[in-house]
Amino acid sequence: MQVILKQMGDCILRRCELSDIIPVIEINLRTLPEHYSDYFYESLLEELPEAFIVAEISGKIVGYIMCKIEHGFSNFKKLGFVKKGHVVSIAVIDEHRRKGFGSILVDEAVKGMKTIQGSELYLEVRCSNNDAVKLYEKLGFSIIQRLKTYYRDGEDAYVMAIDFTS
Ligand code: ACO
Ligand code: ZN
Repeated sequence: MQVILKQMGDCILRRCELSDIIPVIEINLRTLPEHYSDYFYESLLEELPEAFIVAEISGKIVGYIMCKIEHGFSNFKKLGFVKKGHVVSIAVIDEHRRKGFGSILVDEAVKGMKTIQGSELYLEVRCSNNDAVKLYEKLGFSIIQRLKTYYRDGEDAYVMAIDFTS
């Protein structure tokens, strides 16, 4: 059964289902240089369905966000060991950008992480990806760290994170 989270105009935000994985992979291939195996998408869906969300317009998937659970050191609290979410990937197809879908995808992933008692959400983003960095800052994420030559092509990443406990 579909789990609808939000409606914004003609766009529905809902939890991803197995049958959405192929369109999600197609969007990923078209929009980002970082790709994953089919099995990896399925395992993220199984592990954290609360934060694997798709945006759909007239039956067509136009965007997604998918996350992973990690147990590790906090990005905020010194020596704190926490349950945190990691945004593995988010994308919206070109024709539907700047309509707020990216923001509501992140928002819903944050809510999903909170429902499973995650205390923070973090991600890596290319330092040159101004659109995405701006979006995350607007939603309350801060730049925590810069990772040198994080990507295969040698580009640096920012680690950005948001704390749900403060
Ligand atoms: N120029 C300037 N600011 C931008 C732009 C842009 N082209 N796009 C987004 N923003 C900022 C703005 O502040 C914007 O708010 P505003 O429209 O009120 O000014 C805010 O982000 C929110 O924009 P949305 O409309 O919610 O975001 P959108 O639906 O366009 O999706 C996304 C943003 C996902 C980054 C999209 O541009 C995309 O798919 N890019 C290619 C894939 C990508 O780079 N993904 C992120 C990689 S990092 C990772 O996956 C962890
Ligand atoms: Zn990552």
